[in-house]
Amino acid sequence: GGLWNTSIDPTQTENAVLNLAINARDAMDGAGKLTIEAGNAFLDDAYAARHAEVEPGQYVMLAITDTGTGMTPDVIEQVFEPFFSTKAEGKGTGLGLSMVYGFVKQSNGHVKIYSEPGHGTTVKLYLPKTAAAEDVEIRQDVGPSLGGSETILVVEDDDNVRDTVIELLSDLGYSILKASDPQSALSVIESGVPIDLLFTDVVMPGTLKSPELARKAKERLPNLAVLFTSGYTENSIVHHGRLDAGVELLSKPYTRDALARKIRQVLTARQQQTGIPTPVPMVPAPSELQERPFKVLVVEDDVLIRMDICDMIADDGHQVEEAGSGEQAIEMLQSGHFDFLVTDLGLPGMSGETLVVKAREMHPRLGIIIASGRHELAEGVATGISLVSKPFSSEDLRAAFKVAAD
Ligand SMILES: Nc1ncnc2c1ncn2[C@@H]1O[C@H](COP(=O)(O)OP(=O)(O)OP(=O)(O)O)[C@@H](O)[C@H]1O
Ligand SMILES: [Mg+2]
Repeated sequence: GGLWNTSIDPTQTENAVLNLAINARDAMDGAGKLTIEAGNAFLDDAYAARHAEVEPGQYVMLAITDTGTGMTPDVIEQVFEPFFSTKAEGKGTGLGLSMVYGFVKQSNGHVKIYSEPGHGTTVKLYLPKTAAAEDVEIRQDVGPSLGGSETILVVEDDDNVRDTVIELLSDLGYSILKASDPQSALSVIESGVPIDLLFTDVVMPGTLKSPELARKAKERLPNLAVLFTSGYTENSIVHHGRLDAGVELLSKPYTRDALARKIRQVLTARQQQTGIPTPVPMVPAPSELQERPFKVLVVEDDVLIRMDICDMIADDGHQVEEAGSGEQAIEMLQSGHFDFLVTDLGLPGMSGETLVVKAREMHPRLGIIIASGRHELAEGVATGISLVSKPFSSEDLRAAFKVAAD
């Protein structure tokens, strides 16, 4: 019994639900009922025969229902097309559903829209069932990212990439061993030095392939954790956008923070599985010590998006206050101290551009991040102003804070 499991990207799932909820809100124009449900579903042969590209089978279904305007059949036919929108200029880019569609397809799932003009809409996402157990979330409650003191063998053929990774990981406190190809990595492993994690590029020269290296390494060091990294989405460990079971992958390019978190996550999961205690208490990386919580003002008129951004920032341990308009933001900037301003451009009343100029006059040292769905704003962006395009992940936002702080 109970709800089945599915293995899909959590950030993309959150974005999909957010996009669908915003569509539902827009369709209801102030009054109505939004329902979000999850359930188990079986799509049978008959259903698959009626819907192109549907594999019959077991799915976890996520449904978002509203009691709004609904859609006519000819609108339904076009909604997954990028830039198809019936909303007023500046209200919608028409990318919401096309992104939801792309993500679900990429996850080998299926999207179905049921809609009655004048009554409402249900969007159902069917996500393939997995037999795997729930992946328990590992709480990392000390700052934005953690270092450690374990030993990591870095295998990477590109000298520049290798040097950068080694520098990042050494900064985080790890002991590093390195190899420029799988064969020499195997020699390092066979020398008997203790290694906690093998961090290896997937695509490398030579006859020994990295999945094979990982297998041999685990034969010699059964408790070894393995993390692959690759810039290609399709390769020998990823098949049709999915990872083989039990394999961890960090996609290139990645930020320092994403690397730190992923490494820590893989090492912590290994400790929990094998019962090996952390060798030395975890030390925050030296550069982490300088990072203090900062105060952020988020200006966004869309309540759902604002909540989402505020959550991302608060989750990283920072203080956040919110404003729904430029005018309100100016008042808050007059009375309080802030390190960063995160603002939308399309605001009711004072525009985001005007707000940015005024805020800069008031507080020349304020870090500014423009979070916008507009794509044509690169021109004239001043120093200390960084951009994130909507929708964005907490990684993207963190990267933007780094740029704005410089
Ligand atoms: N729940 C819904 N009820 C009625 N119409 C909808 C609903 N969801 C989507 N639509 C229609 O489909 C169109 C496309 O939706 P989509 O989410 O792709 O873009 P958008 O909402 O217009 O813009 P964006 O999501 O990029 O801000 C909408 O403009 C609207 O006409
Ligand atoms: Mg939308």
